[in-house]
Amino acid sequence: MKKPNARRHPLQNVRAFRGALLRWFGETAKSYPWRETTDPWEILVSEIMLQQTTVTSVLANRRFENFLDEFPSIEIIANAPEEKILRAWEGLGYYNRVRNLQKAARAVLENFEGTFPSDAATLETLPGIGRYTAGAVSSFAFDQPSPIVDGNIARVLSRILDIHEPIDSTSGQKKIWQAAGELLDQKNPRLFNSAIMELGQTLCTPRSPECLICPVRNFCQASSPADLPVKKPRKKFVAVEEHAFLHIQGGKILLSLGEDSRRKGFWKLPLREAERCAHLEPASKHRYVITHHKVTLHLYRSDPGDLLDGEKYHALTELESLPIATPVRKILVAEQ
Ligand code: ADE
Repeated sequence: MKKPNARRHPLQNVRAFRGALLRWFGETAKSYPWRETTDPWEILVSEIMLQQTTVTSVLANRRFENFLDEFPSIEIIANAPEEKILRAWEGLGYYNRVRNLQKAARAVLENFEGTFPSDAATLETLPGIGRYTAGAVSSFAFDQPSPIVDGNIARVLSRILDIHEPIDSTSGQKKIWQAAGELLDQKNPRLFNSAIMELGQTLCTPRSPECLICPVRNFCQASSPADLPVKKPRKKFVAVEEHAFLHIQGGKILLSLGEDSRRKGFWKLPLREAERCAHLEPASKHRYVITHHKVTLHLYRSDPGDLLDGEKYHALTELESLPIATPVRKILVAEQ
């Protein structure tokens, strides 16, 4: 979409830019449960959760409220067994994030006497807290002037300032973070960060931005906003073939405790080498995507003459309460 040249530059009229954005946000802000709180633990939970799950899904399934009902404080999660925290995160994916939430809670208790630091640089020293999350906790919980850049904000800023460097390159990231810091309203960092994020979520969307009703259209330098941001060429998916057994005997099923980092601590189906299964007829075939792998899982019924390290029989009645990777749970539901 082509649009007329902008009249004002946001960095030369930065007060007017902030004013226009905050006025719009004051009129249209959405209400979210994490906007009702300034508790840094609750803000941290929301930010970690929203990194991998859409706002709609977190809200619809009350994942934020339910998680905090179970772990209302850093003291409670610090002392919880891993199985319990994994179970509370099940279905959200990227389980190292909930392990890191627990580690961060423990670090706040051990190193900061149980009180979250408010500045982004110190927050970034906590396990699993990167630059974005540190800025989010600092600004949303403490109203500190810490910039944040997520995918939505990067898109908005690349358009406002007509930045053409790939946003996932080092130089592009540097430019975007610098812009986020320069435009940030030092007096209203919480509102400003929420507003610019919401602009990206609602109007300044990837394919068809609604420039005609954008509150900051007069500041936007992009001549072709829908073509921004630029990204580096995509990495290709790697195809993986897996051969797994559904081995059930006397009400018990054989499962294996995953050792690879993606599924560490999660029970999955016992895998065998392709050659070992060559003479067998698969009962079914399942396809799923996990990070950059496209997995085709060939499922065989019964067999395991042998038991490998990490494999164990579990009563079928236990399945509900075991941490099981989501694609594996789906297969179990489909096959049982
Ligand atoms: N996505 C990630 N963090 C968010 C927040 N604080 N508000 C709305 N959407 C978000």
